[in-house]
Amino acid sequence: MSPDDLPPDDLEPPRGREPAIRVVMMPRDTNALGTIFGGVILSHIDLAAAIEAHHYHHGRVVTVAMDEIVFKKPVLVGDLVSFYTETVRVGTTSVTVKVSVWARRRFGSSEYVPVTEAQVTMVAVDDQFQKVPIRRRESP
Ligand SMILES: CC(C)(COP(=O)(O)OP(=O)(O)OC[C@H]1O[C@@H](n2cnc3c(N)ncnc32)[C@H](O)[C@@H]1OP(=O)(O)O)[C@@H](O)C(=O)NCCC(=O)NCCS
Repeated sequence: MSPDDLPPDDLEPPRGREPAIRVVMMPRDTNALGTIFGGVILSHIDLAAAIEAHHYHHGRVVTVAMDEIVFKKPVLVGDLVSFYTETVRVGTTSVTVKVSVWARRRFGSSEYVPVTEAQVTMVAVDDQFQKVPIRRRESP
């Protein structure tokens, strides 16, 4: 994915959809430059994908793959960051989830910034960490 594949800046984040996670970035989340550490965003992407996968599978899931991630804009301290999820595929043992990340600039700004998008595949596992079939639920 290149930055050009991401939504343009004048787009608005998904309306009427609840994000899987919404979190305010704090000074503890920064890198040496003072902006938000990419690993913090990745960690929330991972969690958001697991939350979405649990709509389809009741039990343990682990991350097997995350596609290429491009950070289009920096995330800043105080930004309210939302992680929207969408199921792409429910397979035999896996659920693939698209996670779209949007930052609302701090102090309730009306500026929304598309930060990144990622596709994450979660695999259902048992208590020995062996893959198991998805226990499908009728609907999310
Ligand atoms: C997840 C794990 C149990 C899968 O075991 P495996 O024997 O390699 O499984 P398979 O290759 O048969 O793949 C299982 C599913 O994952 C999917 N998958 C595997 N590799 C993938 C990849 N690179 N991208 C997308 N999907 C992938 C397969 O398509 C399959 O899905 P399906 O059954 O729904 O069709 C094993 O790889 C593992 O334990 N990985 C570590 C997971 C972990 O600890 N993650 C946390 C980060 S450290």
